[in-house]
Amino acid sequence: MEDLGHALAVADENVRMLGGGNPALIPGVQAVWRQRVEEMMADGDRFDRVLGVYDPPKGNSRFALALAGYLQREYGWNVGAENIAITSGGQTAFFYLFNLLAGEFADGRRKKILLPIVPEYIGYANQGLGADFFRGYAPEIEFTGRHAFKYRVDFHKLEVGPDIGAICVSRPTNPSGNVLSDAEVDHLDRIAREAGVPLIIDNAYGAPFPGIVFSDIKPIWNENIVLTFSLSKLGLPGTRTGVVVARPEIVKSIAAMTAITGLANGTIGQALVTPLLESGEMTSLVAAEIRPYYQRKAENARRWIAEAFDDSLDYFVHQSEGALFLWLWFRGLPISAAALYERLKARGVLIVPGHYFSFGSPESDAHANECIRLSFAMEDAVVEDGIRILADEVAKVYAGR
Ligand SMILES: Cc1ncc(COP(=O)(O)O)c(C=O)c1O
Repeated sequence: MEDLGHALAVADENVRMLGGGNPALIPGVQAVWRQRVEEMMADGDRFDRVLGVYDPPKGNSRFALALAGYLQREYGWNVGAENIAITSGGQTAFFYLFNLLAGEFADGRRKKILLPIVPEYIGYANQGLGADFFRGYAPEIEFTGRHAFKYRVDFHKLEVGPDIGAICVSRPTNPSGNVLSDAEVDHLDRIAREAGVPLIIDNAYGAPFPGIVFSDIKPIWNENIVLTFSLSKLGLPGTRTGVVVARPEIVKSIAAMTAITGLANGTIGQALVTPLLESGEMTSLVAAEIRPYYQRKAENARRWIAEAFDDSLDYFVHQSEGALFLWLWFRGLPISAAALYERLKARGVLIVPGHYFSFGSPESDAHANECIRLSFAMEDAVVEDGIRILADEVAKVYAGR
């Protein structure tokens, strides 16, 4: 993590930074945010209020109304402002949700967060206040091509016992780029309701925004689902804005946690985005700028991998169905993913070794230790160059050099 942070902060041009989760700077999207800043400044009174007045801990009410209306119009969901809480980024939303729904309770009971598929988002790993916080499951692996695979939830194994406080999935998944099918999500929704626990769906990359989803899926929400959004992958990570869409009782708890830990949230992200939700322009921004941009990046990266890697090698790329990453599995890799990371770092390429994404599921460790995550959000030349060096280094590793 230190390596990744340092590489981004100093913008070292000798480092091919395929490791981080930073979204791309997309010119058409940057233009929209610049224009929004100008509009805000032109409306002096509003601008002064955005900067000069605390929002309530739950978030800005105009933003909540705008988002509720947008979700009603897009999907017909029965969502109101009472279902929406803002947090300081999605990361903070997960810290609140996990420790609200799992961990140690006042009566001494302990509950865990169930992760239906591990590898799962690295950012969850250390968020539990207390040990033994997650119960994860290794997925079924479906081979979808000579060098392609896809994870499926292994429903035969999943057990939602009384020690489970909530089920959580990222969809699209960071790190794998997997998008759980509608049938899988419906199934998880059913078993969560039967067990009387919420299903948390981390929509940091999902529809309707930022819409970095390359397959045709149906977003879902109901009173038992906690759906989280983030403005980060809309190109606004600096505004630190996360959104929790949930039943009012959970929303109230999240607002109370914000009040205690941070008093209020940043106002700028909500103020920038509100008019796009009110007008519906968000839909065209996603369809015209964001989704095609990342889809093209994903296709390029897959093509460069196919060109650079020796076909006889036992490598597999997870189906790229969304998010900013490709997830590569080197079956039978003779060294650990961490050792591969070090060798790549020495050659100026930063990736994230797979073992960081395996937590709460010891049966996933060996597989994850043969995997790496690479981001395709950086400039094409950086991604292509990084992939070429990766292929060369992996070939050397398999050859025992
Ligand atoms: C799956 C997932 N969830 C949540 C987050 C948190 O994002 P942020 O705190 O910037 O909203 C990220 C960030 O990359 C992510 O990949």
